[in-house]
Amino acid sequence: MTKAIYPGSFDPVTYGHLDIIKRSSSMFDEVIVGVLNNSAKHPLFSVEERVEMLIEATKEYNNVSVICFEGLLIDFMKQNDISVIVRGLRAITDFDYELQIAQSNRKVSKETIDTVFLTTSIDYAYLSSSIVREYASYGTDVSDFVPEFVAKKLENRFR
Ligand code: PNS
Repeated sequence: MTKAIYPGSFDPVTYGHLDIIKRSSSMFDEVIVGVLNNSAKHPLFSVEERVEMLIEATKEYNNVSVICFEGLLIDFMKQNDISVIVRGLRAITDFDYELQIAQSNRKVSKETIDTVFLTTSIDYAYLSSSIVREYASYGTDVSDFVPEFVAKKLENRFR
């Protein structure tokens, strides 16, 4: 039984994230969406709000759960018996950073964990949570980028 974690800030969840979650849920027995609780990052949405949005957005997948974590990802993985990290790659510009993290996580975990990269669907290649936040902050409709209920939450946050 392979448990995978899809970690990230998800501030907020986008259709790009949901595409990766959908695809990984059919590749692994169990997928845990790990929401980073990092107060130093000053997120737009609290970790509780981000978890809540992800639970709502992933409710159709019965092997997907959502949890928040603090500290090192590999420590959380060891404690929860998770051996695979899933990350989405949108473009070559993501690659340097992702490769570095994947290799250092492998080294620090003493080669017990692996990272699997899924290439983002072309439909969402340009999409990021920060782009969504930026448009929403100017009152732009972002319902092409995020589920309707997330777009509403953004609208309320910036009102
Ligand atoms: O969505 P993001 O912000 O690109 O996700 C980055 C994330 C959460 C995967 C990464 O920052 C992370 O794993 N942080 C936890 C702390 C950690 O393990 N650091 C060592 C590798 S950077």
